[in-house]
Amino acid sequence: MADVYAKSSGMPPDGNVGTKRVRERARRNYRHIEVRPYAPNLGAEIRGLDLAEGLSEAQFEEVHHAFLDNQVLFFKEQSPIPPGTHIEIAKMFGELHFHPAAPGKDGFPEIFEIHAHAGSKIANGEFWHSDVSCDEIPPLGTMLQIHILPDCGGDTMFADSYAAWESLSEPLREMLDGLHGEHESEHIYRGRYSDRGMEDEGKVYPSATHPIARVHPETRRKALYVNRAFTTGIAELEPDESSAVLAMLLEHAEKIEFQIRFRWEQNDMAFWDNRCAMHRALWDYWPAERKGNRVTIKGDRPS
Ligand code: SIN
Repeated sequence: MADVYAKSSGMPPDGNVGTKRVRERARRNYRHIEVRPYAPNLGAEIRGLDLAEGLSEAQFEEVHHAFLDNQVLFFKEQSPIPPGTHIEIAKMFGELHFHPAAPGKDGFPEIFEIHAHAGSKIANGEFWHSDVSCDEIPPLGTMLQIHILPDCGGDTMFADSYAAWESLSEPLREMLDGLHGEHESEHIYRGRYSDRGMEDEGKVYPSATHPIARVHPETRRKALYVNRAFTTGIAELEPDESSAVLAMLLEHAEKIEFQIRFRWEQNDMAFWDNRCAMHRALWDYWPAERKGNRVTIKGDRPS
């Protein structure tokens, strides 16, 4: 009943900020790229540029704007981006981030090869996460181009962490604001890349505490910054409180209404904002192969 009333009055139903946002996002004027909202809550498809040729300053300005506005961009109709060009494009957004555990691609330490095949024991990103949130200064964003795809499957899910924060009740937001999530990586990274020749005996993997309500440094909006892969507790709470509150927050952040599901086509490039979106890669295609290049941009210390 509430929804019927809301629709007939032209107002979005409670909590459905996406309807209003998609109208605003569709109205933006872009002159150098074409931007199509992917779903009401988040994401946009970008057409009209060939990343293999690099990004001009004018295109960069508009891509940057679309990135802040949509949280995840999907560049369609692409050809393979040479590794050097991929790195140069990423550098336009900031200093690059080096993965604390994964090996770099031969000759290109900035590139993390995403690769799963018949012989793989793991695939990357199978749990909801924001990339490397265990780092003191975690990545701003990640650019992934997929070159080899299974016949079907291998989709990537994304979830809107602004909407997750904004839809919590006010008393809960008041309680959480000022608390910090504990982000760890030992349980994920130890031995993970041994099949790619990475020995990690004696290595210490990163851990950090970050605000649960993270203020995006560019949009100034708050996002819920906890994720199932890396966040292990809430620093200021007693252990039993911490596990109960964290479990509730993770379940909330992963609600289907905050999600989109991206079905890749060969050479699509996705560019996601780790400060306000989580993602999860589906490994439903074994023993088929999926392979691509990922470059990650360093962010700021979450505050
Ligand atoms: C990741 O970077 O988490 C992997 C994403 C993907 O393979 O789609």
